[in-house]
Amino acid sequence: MKGIKIIATASAAPANSYDNEKLCTMVDSDPEWIETRTGIRNRHICTNENAVSLAVEAGEKLFAKADIDKSRISAVIAATSTPEFVFPSVACMAAKELGLRREILAFDLSAACSGFMYALETARCYIAQNGGMALVIGTEKLSGIIDYTDRSTCILFGDGAGAALIESSDKLYHHVSGCEADIRALSLKGPGDGDRFVHMDGHRVFRFAVSILKEVVDKLLSDTGLTISEVNYVICHQANARIIDAVKKKYPGQEHKFYMNLEEYGNTSAASIPLLLSEMFEKGLLRDGMKVICAGFGAGLTWGGTLMEI
Ligand code: ACO
Repeated sequence: MKGIKIIATASAAPANSYDNEKLCTMVDSDPEWIETRTGIRNRHICTNENAVSLAVEAGEKLFAKADIDKSRISAVIAATSTPEFVFPSVACMAAKELGLRREILAFDLSAACSGFMYALETARCYIAQNGGMALVIGTEKLSGIIDYTDRSTCILFGDGAGAALIESSDKLYHHVSGCEADIRALSLKGPGDGDRFVHMDGHRVFRFAVSILKEVVDKLLSDTGLTISEVNYVICHQANARIIDAVKKKYPGQEHKFYMNLEEYGNTSAASIPLLLSEMFEKGLLRDGMKVICAGFGAGLTWGGTLMEI
């Protein structure tokens, strides 16, 4: 199976932010409660930005870092649950703003917080077959679908985008994914009657998240014949620090490999994994040849993970 090479990554987040103190002036909660129950202290919230502009900002930063011939890009996939328009897609508009050629595949992908993992795998298959490079984006304006009077959801979510430019390679790459319909756990209505806010059964999501993350990590390891000690980092979707803490306890001695940045961004859904990748490359934590697990889970329910050499 063909793997991928990550050519460059970048991210974008709105300048405006709500820390726990500010949020607690808007909703009946407590900054310390939020921090101890979630690990989140801050989240970036759009003012004039939207899922397209964040995607474009991340893309522009990426092209500023990677001096590549843009005509080699053959696909743009944007994972998002919060597109500015149902159509035209974020991917289509971002491709134009970023000056990409017209003869490409560009579409949005909906798999909630697993979106970036689904998009990465879809893009990998596409370029393995068709060649070229793919721009894979996770971008969200979750503040647009959050009820800021609902303290069980508004404390968790933030806005942002991350992008990765990839091409085919012979490096190790293995993917697993799955789905299981469950409207009770997490839902957001589409066109028609009813409100347009995220509804969540927090306990149900929590239980699912802890068990599926362990299942995904174990399956990736057993399928590739690797042990967790041979993996450099486990990069999980950032939903709640307590979810990740519960998972890392299952891998004694390996806890330091579970990198987190949700303290600053909260849960940015499809953007969280590319935001992490970008930050970790920037900090020099990720280097050529390292083996990394990325694992996402979210509404659907959906889950997806890769074990790859970067
Ligand atoms: N501030 C203060 N008190 C609160 C708040 C709040 N924001 N929210 C709930 N409480 C109260 C409750 O009313 C309850 O009070 P009671 O005991 O008097 O009834 C108490 O705190 C405990 O409530 P729980 O719901 O049991 O709190 P819990 O520790 O489970 O934390 C949370 C809630 C943070 C939502 C947690 O269940 C969670 O993180 N679940 C996973 C959610 C998640 O990951 N969502 C991501 C969705 S998308 C995705 O990425 C998959």
